[in-house]
Amino acid sequence: MRTDIVHIGAGELNYEIRQIATIAHRISKLSKKPIIWENIGDPVQKGEKIPKWIKEIVSQSVQEDISYAYSPTHGLLETKRFLANRSKERGGITLQEDDIIFFNGLGDAVNKVYYLLKREARIIGPSPAYPTHSSAEAGHAGYPPITYRLLPEKNWMPDLDELRNKVRYNESIAGILIINPDNPTGAVFPKEIVQEMIGIAKEYDLFIVADEIYTNMVFDRKKDYTPLSTIIGDVPAVSLKGISKEIPWPGARCGWMEVYNRKVDSNFNKYISSIMNAKMLEVCSTTLPQKVIPSILSHPEYSSWQARRNEFFQKRSSQAHEIFSQCDNVIVNRPDGAFYISVVFQENVSAGLRLNIHNDSVKEYVNGLLACEMKADFSFVYQLLGAKNICVVPLSSFVTNLTGFRSTLLEQDEEKFLLIYRSLAQSIQDFV
Ligand SMILES: Cc1ncc(COP(=O)(O)O)c(C=O)c1O
Repeated sequence: MRTDIVHIGAGELNYEIRQIATIAHRISKLSKKPIIWENIGDPVQKGEKIPKWIKEIVSQSVQEDISYAYSPTHGLLETKRFLANRSKERGGITLQEDDIIFFNGLGDAVNKVYYLLKREARIIGPSPAYPTHSSAEAGHAGYPPITYRLLPEKNWMPDLDELRNKVRYNESIAGILIINPDNPTGAVFPKEIVQEMIGIAKEYDLFIVADEIYTNMVFDRKKDYTPLSTIIGDVPAVSLKGISKEIPWPGARCGWMEVYNRKVDSNFNKYISSIMNAKMLEVCSTTLPQKVIPSILSHPEYSSWQARRNEFFQKRSSQAHEIFSQCDNVIVNRPDGAFYISVVFQENVSAGLRLNIHNDSVKEYVNGLLACEMKADFSFVYQLLGAKNICVVPLSSFVTNLTGFRSTLLEQDEEKFLLIYRSLAQSIQDFV
């Protein structure tokens, strides 16, 4: 090209959760056996059934011509009013209609949050972190992500001293990302921790980016989980929410941003206006899912349906934790929310370790992959695919120096779930 056309942040865009699938497909072809997908957080792909009453609400809406129309740029007014009232009823801050903006899935919202920030302004995020955030943030800046650690030895709670120090000494940090409940760790941060993070934001004049897509997926109601909107006070913030995980309807591509304390800071206000204007250029987000949100979330069966789902994930969480707790040389915490579990390898676990792969062509292919220098967890994940056809995600692809892997708690069939998890645990033992 006459002029370099590659964006400065192009090298920062990585999404191993899906990249690993290319290798998995190849192994499936060579082994002539299907893959057990534990890499993607899609409850529907893992066999979750959508209740009849949800399908009926969607079917009715499909019959109405207006569902095929564009919707207003920032979202359907009725739905925004419904969400604002719901948040208020739950003790949240008052939201005006223009404090809620709809997007084509939270992935779209996440992109806009970072892409519309001034290049020099950075958002410090957790490590490990869900890569859509860390990649979009780093991609916008053209530098690697700035992170604060979540500590596996402390049940994945954030290292608040590190956060405070990094914020104090790095003036480019303009905001703090909190993912609560968290992906990939399944951690739920208690009220005091989030309050302390809000306090740091207030002290240093920052804003908060909260990803609360799993807000209604805290398994244990006794857990001290508090949505950001109820404790944000007067600190500027955005909270990202959606229906991909909760209804669950990931294919709807529908999520929204709630803006808190927009008017408190004129610079923050301008930034939010730029997000709204960017959305205007796209015309609008998907209409049908927005249209059915009020009827689904206010349906008499909704709460009990969510409660049953959470009981299910709590059971899976305990089962997975119990199985992995028997393994040597790993740290594992019982997830309290979302539907993932992350296993951390101790430092002595190395990439040179080997699993037995019986199929010769698969072995040859995996050995080819292992010929490159790599971290212990990539080596484990490739070999696990070769040996067991199970696809998990290397933990080090979630912006962390920790090695290990993330898998999901989604498998509906209990017998199959236990088989997969016992097989994973056996592979850990064979590897470490
Ligand atoms: C923390 C978090 N945020 C955002 C998303 C993306 O959600 P959506 O399907 O609405 O784009 C995910 C998906 O896994 C997620 O785990």
